[in-house]
Amino acid sequence: MTAVSKFMYADHKCLDKLWSNFLSKKNDGTKTEKIFQEFSKHLKFHIQLENDFLFPKFDKYMGFTENNGPTPVLIKDHEVIILLLNDVEKKFKYGKETEIKNSSLNLKKFLVTHRNRELDMEYPIWDSFISYDELKVAVTKIYKNDFDLFDHIKVIIEDN
Ligand SMILES: [Fe+2]
Ligand SMILES: [Fe+2]
Repeated sequence: MTAVSKFMYADHKCLDKLWSNFLSKKNDGTKTEKIFQEFSKHLKFHIQLENDFLFPKFDKYMGFTENNGPTPVLIKDHEVIILLLNDVEKKFKYGKETEIKNSSLNLKKFLVTHRNRELDMEYPIWDSFISYDELKVAVTKIYKNDFDLFDHIKVIIEDN
């Protein structure tokens, strides 16, 4: 496993950690929402890194256009994820406890499906043509000042 998969797997792991933090705080409304916001912000960075950097690189390398290959499917997934994220946020504002729970479960279920799809389709191929330095530039640009939240990002930023 090289730079790209190492980083992206670590990023999935970090999201899992934020998700289980979120679940463990289930009884304290304000705190739970704050932890969810943290998860949501990080997930949006992750999606942006894939949409704006990794997918276009993949398409160029593989010779796919906008309409073919696996990227359009994964981009559509990301749109669904954003809708589901918004739904959880809305439920936090206006919904009952059970609605928050159901909405969160829908999101989690879809995230698992999506992750398996992208791990199958694109993750293993990125390693063969994206360099550590290129990834570092993209991560620095997208994750901005939030490095301290994510240990694995610190590693990749400081490690060269
Ligand atoms: Fe993704
Ligand atoms: Fe991903």
